[in-house]
Amino acid sequence: SLLYSIAKGDVFGQDQPIILILLDIPPMLPVLDGVVMELQDCALPLLMEVIPTDKVEVGFKDIDAAILVGSMPRKEGMERKDLLKANVAIFKTQGSALDKYAKKSVKVLVVGNPANTNCLIASKSAPSIPKENFSCLTRLDHNRACSQVAMRCGVSSGHVKNVIIWGNHSSTQYPDVHHAKVNVAGSEKAAYEAVKNDAWLRGDFISTVQQRGAAVIKARKLSSAMSAAKAICDHMRDIWFGTKEGEFISMGVYASGNSYGIPEDLIYSFPVQIKNKSWKIVDGLEINDFSRAKMDATAAELVEERDTALDFLSK
Ligand code: LMR
Repeated sequence: SLLYSIAKGDVFGQDQPIILILLDIPPMLPVLDGVVMELQDCALPLLMEVIPTDKVEVGFKDIDAAILVGSMPRKEGMERKDLLKANVAIFKTQGSALDKYAKKSVKVLVVGNPANTNCLIASKSAPSIPKENFSCLTRLDHNRACSQVAMRCGVSSGHVKNVIIWGNHSSTQYPDVHHAKVNVAGSEKAAYEAVKNDAWLRGDFISTVQQRGAAVIKARKLSSAMSAAKAICDHMRDIWFGTKEGEFISMGVYASGNSYGIPEDLIYSFPVQIKNKSWKIVDGLEINDFSRAKMDATAAELVEERDTALDFLSK
């Protein structure tokens, strides 16, 4: 789902030739060969080369962008701690490899769950790469929130902007539309005014977005693929080309120096604007008591995940 969009120029632009390096675990190499054949058979003009590998020294060599999609999925009977432990091992290895082999300007997007904490571990394992170069995916949640509001207002999601996902890419995330705008019949309204249903916005809207990943898994028996790929492309394209004037998007970034009282040393999803490949947290948005409590709850979950993960990292 992801590779086709990247290889045809949707992310890095229509003038940018691309070399795709596909890193996977050894048992997946025969499958990867099939993916390589399909990419070749697409005859995409921008695609210069596809390199399948199971070696990090090949996978991370001199790369400009890294999309870390794979992680250890939670299996039946697995404790949250076991999941964190397995993923600390993966993201420590990948962070160290980035540190050793990638360009120092590499932009790293972590998708594999638990994405925020995996991103933190990768960054801590790559001390020579600026920590601002690391981010994790909450754009899928952001797009889900836009779409829910749009459907409610009878417009397309292109008419909704400035929703915010605060915190963790988990069921504690807080989808917030207090600063969102909806364009209805040519006039821009605050989302609360356009939706005209505060109970829905404070209730089912939030739980629908929080639980959407699980709902897709339940229906498809597989986790989201098309929508996750689209969100990854949106996220990386905005890093490369910047966000639109007057708009912000959500991504998980280092909380250091944020003005919202979120504990430092977390990868927390904030509203950000991006220019010249650098993101900046949108400061000074008014936060009411309802939002405050939800922002703190998701921060508390991330602090707990971080402390458990750092404990494993130090062993
Ligand atoms: C999603 O939000 O769709 C995924 O993160 C769900 C999952 O656990 O794979």
